[in-house]
Order: sequence, then C-alpha cells, then structure tokens
Amino acid sequence: MKYLSLFLLLAACAQAPQKDRSIMTKPFGNYDNKAVTEYTISNQHGMQLSVINYGGAVTRLVVPDRNGKPGDVVAGFDSLEGYLQKGNPYFGALVGRYANRIRQAKFTLDGQPFQLAANDHGNSLHGGNKGFDKVFWEITKLPGDSSLLLKYKSPDGEEGYPGNMDMEVVYTLTNDNQWKIEYKATTDKPTPVNLTQHAYFNLSAGTDPTILEHQLQIEANGYTPVDSTLIPLGRVDSVTAPLDFRTAKPIGRDLAQVPGGYDHNWVLNKTTAALQKAATLTHAASGRSMEVWTTEPGLQFYSGNFLDGTLTNTKNGAAYNKHAALCLEAQHFPDSPNQPSFPGTIIRPGETYSQTTIYKFITIQ
Ligand code: BGC
Repeated sequence: MKYLSLFLLLAACAQAPQKDRSIMTKPFGNYDNKAVTEYTISNQHGMQLSVINYGGAVTRLVVPDRNGKPGDVVAGFDSLEGYLQKGNPYFGALVGRYANRIRQAKFTLDGQPFQLAANDHGNSLHGGNKGFDKVFWEITKLPGDSSLLLKYKSPDGEEGYPGNMDMEVVYTLTNDNQWKIEYKATTDKPTPVNLTQHAYFNLSAGTDPTILEHQLQIEANGYTPVDSTLIPLGRVDSVTAPLDFRTAKPIGRDLAQVPGGYDHNWVLNKTTAALQKAATLTHAASGRSMEVWTTEPGLQFYSGNFLDGTLTNTKNGAAYNKHAALCLEAQHFPDSPNQPSFPGTIIRPGETYSQTTIYKFITIQ
C-alpha cells in the first residue's frame, strides 16, 4: 500500500503540467537608497522580457529569429550606471508625465498658467528634468508569472505639473509573443498626461549596426508637421514621400530627404480609442517582425538620430551610433495641451487615464 501511494504520487508528478512561465529576479544596484531589481519574465516560446525599477525600463527583450535562435532586440546598458548616465536617451524607459514636447514648457489649464522645466531648446521634453524615466517604480509580480505591476506616485507640482498622480503600469509577456503594456493614471487635480514606452528596437539583435534596412509600415495617412524645434505647427498634413509609410519600405530608402532624420508624430488611421494596429516593423534577414497595436491616436517614429556612439556601459559594448535602433512610441500628439484641435490629454479628478500598447512578435520565412 505504501509503495502504491508512492507510485501514484510519482505518476501524478510526472503528469503534472510543466511550469512553463516564470519570473526570475536579479539585483541591479541601488537608486534613491532602494534596491533596484531586474525582473525577467519568460514565456513558452523562448521570449524573455527584463525590467528594472529605475524608470520602469525594459533592459532586455529576447525574441527568437526564424530558426528559433534567441536575440535581444532592444538597446540598453549592462548595469544601473549605464541607465543613470547623463545623456541616457530614455533607453527602454516609461516616459511621462507628458511624453514628447510641450511648447516653451508651458500651458494654461482652466485659466491657470503652469511652467514646466525647459529641457529641450526652450521646450519641455519627456516630462522635464526628472521625468518618469528617472524615478523608482515599485514592482510586484502578478499571479500567473506573466505580468509585472509597476507603480509610481507623482507628487503635486512635480516638474511643474499639477495634482498628485497615481500610476499603474502592467507589463505582460503573453504566450503568443506579445509584450503588452497597460497604463492607468488618476489625479486629484486636472493635469495633462501622456505616457509612452521608449524602447529602442533593432530586430537584427546585434547583427546590423543600424535599422536602415528594416522595413516599416505605418497605418497613417497623416502626420503633424513641426517647426525647427520639433513643435507641431497645429495642423495635420497628408503623408507624402519621404514620410509616406502606408506601404512598407526600408527606413533608409528616403531618409536622406528628411533633415535630421525621422522624428515625427504620425496620425493613426483611427477614429476611436479601440486597440488597432499602428505599424509593422520587419527585419527580413532574421525573419523577426513586430506589430505595434495601440489605443492611442499617434505614433512617434524616431529613427535614433541623436545616437552618436558616446554612451558608456552599453550591453556587450555595443556602439549605438546614429540609427543603431529606433523607437515607435504610441502616444497622444506632441504639445496637445497648447493645441486645441488635437485630441485632449487632460484628466480630471474622478477620471481614469488608460492606454494599452502591444508589441507583437511574429516570424516570417
Ligand atoms: C523624441 C526625440 C528625442 C528622443 C530622446 C524621442 O521620443 O522624439 O526627439 O531626441 O526621444 O532620446
């Protein structure tokens, strides 16, 4: 009888489903007197997503190529020192309270003027001097071992923005190879909010030094033209070459015709806040392809124009020269608080800001 129970127990163990999901943790230094941890979510198909508390930054995104060979498709640093360096161009970070630019770093809300830090040619960029990319996010593992919850409380007046804002971001790595980002925010005073993820992708995973041969398609008939400091002029123009990505084309094809490189907000072909496909990025040589799905009205495509090879502590000593990687930032339009014709970005007490963006990976033959 004793042996029978042992046998049954062993048989049950053998049949128990193998645990196919896990979240591993690793110390990643200290920031603000708090321990920074790197959390790594793995899925059944060899994908891995690593995240740290500092800036909620994604440090690694491992995606198999068409032959199943894994490769890390995001730019990053090999230590916290790398992330903390002056000039870190928001590698992998969560960006807010207002992603992108606000003209002359000011806006008026309900008749009251607000002054923000002017950190980019007199404008405010990505939340100011210490945006959400430079704060400590509390991270907890959610049940099921596929999601992480990141929380940050932005105090009233932080970087000049009104209201205490509570943020919750959930990063999920699904078993169908989606990196899903769900944002929620509430406030106790009216405030503008525009959150995004600033991962820099290069789907070659270290094989190609630039993204110029990646093919990009963007579901947009329009874009917001900008002045020399990248502030929108207030209108939406129809895309024409070189900004026409309605049909997939290599990023390098028309790049020389865009002074400074691509750094524009495309107005997505959507009329509701439903989750819709915004773009497809493909690296034919590896077979990796990535779709971007979002609830947001805009997509900033930034072709890594300011990368210049000067960053230190890069992963595996990568050079990260100009165009080494690109960003596809789902967001509201730049400078919306000063542009009454753009979709609104103000949330008020009792309302909840929410947005969802998905980077979905597939392989092509
Ligand atoms: C902006 C670029 C900026 C970069 C910072 C992008 O979101 O569009 O203009 O230089 O972030 O790394």
